[in-house]
Amino acid sequence: MRVTDTSDLWWKSAVIYCLDVETFYDADGDGTGDLEGLAQRIDYLAELGITCLWLMPFYPSPDRDDGYDLTDFYGVDPRLGNHGQLVEVIRTAHDRGINVIADLVVNHTSDRHPWFQAARRSTSNRYRDHYVWRDTEPPDTSKLVVFPDREDSIWELDDRTGEWYLHNFYKHQPDLNLANPEVVDEILRVVGFWLELGFDGFRVDGIPFLEQNAKNIGDPALVVDPHELMRTIRGFLNRRAGHAMMLGEVNLAHPQQLDFFGGDSADELQMQFDFIGMQATYLALAREDAGPIVTALQERPAIGVTCQWATFLRNHDELTLDKLGDAERAEVFAAFGPEPEMQLYDRGLKRRLPTMLGGDPRRIRMAYSLMFSLPGTPTLYYGEEIGMGEDLAADGRMAVRTPMQWSAGRNGGFSTAAPSRLVQRVVPGACGPEHVNVVSQVHDPDSLWSFMRKLISIRRTCPELGWGTWSVVDQPSAQVLVQRCQLDGSAVVTVHNLGADPVTVDVPIDPRDDGLEAVDLMAEEVVTGAATTRVALEGYGFRWLRVRPAGDLAIP
Ligand code: GLC
Repeated sequence: MRVTDTSDLWWKSAVIYCLDVETFYDADGDGTGDLEGLAQRIDYLAELGITCLWLMPFYPSPDRDDGYDLTDFYGVDPRLGNHGQLVEVIRTAHDRGINVIADLVVNHTSDRHPWFQAARRSTSNRYRDHYVWRDTEPPDTSKLVVFPDREDSIWELDDRTGEWYLHNFYKHQPDLNLANPEVVDEILRVVGFWLELGFDGFRVDGIPFLEQNAKNIGDPALVVDPHELMRTIRGFLNRRAGHAMMLGEVNLAHPQQLDFFGGDSADELQMQFDFIGMQATYLALAREDAGPIVTALQERPAIGVTCQWATFLRNHDELTLDKLGDAERAEVFAAFGPEPEMQLYDRGLKRRLPTMLGGDPRRIRMAYSLMFSLPGTPTLYYGEEIGMGEDLAADGRMAVRTPMQWSAGRNGGFSTAAPSRLVQRVVPGACGPEHVNVVSQVHDPDSLWSFMRKLISIRRTCPELGWGTWSVVDQPSAQVLVQRCQLDGSAVVTVHNLGADPVTVDVPIDPRDDGLEAVDLMAEEVVTGAATTRVALEGYGFRWLRVRPAGDLAIP
């Protein structure tokens, strides 16, 4: 690893934080979070220590899919502010050393997008081929829908022109025809526009559908090669901005994920979310057995040096468990979401982590420490740093999209508007702002927030985890995960006890060389100079050890 690489490939050792502007902080008191509010809270994020901010869609939208249904690729939703305020956000973030990435929705638009409005006027309209149409009755596609409570087909009949259009998501989100070079040009212009405004990259939405369409559409003229498309966007991205990064939402099996990294050429996405590792982590937590994580990590394909996994425990969607087997999913449901109102679409849970873990502070800290210790780039969803819970009464995925809880005051300090005017109500009850909020936690050294800040700062001093060679260290306790990430002369060894019972494990520091010592990164002390160190863990206990040449104080 060279210093020049680490600064260029910033995403390999970043800490990413995702938020939705409309639920973060409302500066003008109208009940909806806004860019001005976010700009005021950039210092909060800098203090927490994150290094990359991912903004969920902020584009003009009828907001029927939380902004993922956009009507203008170049605009800013006027409820959130304007381009000037967005530039203030980016500028302030950059000043604090934070890169900013935007959600990029290439798969579809809103049905109110001017292109679709025009396209449905007639079959000969200039914008007709911006979307995917068929003139014959579609087959039964009810098994392919993403939201089975709302849709029963991925095709919708357009009454006016008598043809059906493709929509992998809601019927109000027609799929773009990415086999049309004009549409691809348009996407590139969009990428170029936001790069010029200062963004450092994109989280690319819904990529599996580009692939699945090849099977579902049938008409070769409408089928896009998803890899050619990714290479085109990536090539353009890095011609315009060498440092820019694309993080893909690709919830597919490992071999297909490897393809979307661009395989050996590494010329498609630089980053992808580790959906498989995330789901394995929940299975491991439910079983109190590290086995599923070890399997998932060992099965991860080797990726190019410029590529990286984004690890996470929660995001803005349901906690999808679609990659687990039926019996495994049932285990996780039984452990973390046994009630029907906690479940969504038979495949996921509409809860946040702390409630799933019964509010146990030791277990919650262990889960985040574990996620941060996995090889990759940790990704947080706003509110995780204070342990926010969900609002199960909210519709579907909105359960985890509630306003940020800043204080115990009115509306959790999110907005001064009347509660009835809030974009979404604040979480009620035991996880509400009276009990869970930023202000009380930042002043409490024992709070989850203080723990998360420490965890982030330690993670940022461990390039081994983003860059190093990962291995699992064998030891006899199934409830314990011992991982080692080696980079050049130093290594980080992490030990996590997934079980409620205390356990003691012998951790080899370096079997080949006893001229090494281990430093406990949380306690900031040298714990052993021996070849093997005995680690006693409480239930849900964990340790981060750096292994370095004895007495080498140059390595923290
Ligand atoms: C992605 C987003 C999800 C959205 C969907 C359609 O899966 O994460 O929130 O509904 O794309 O845009």
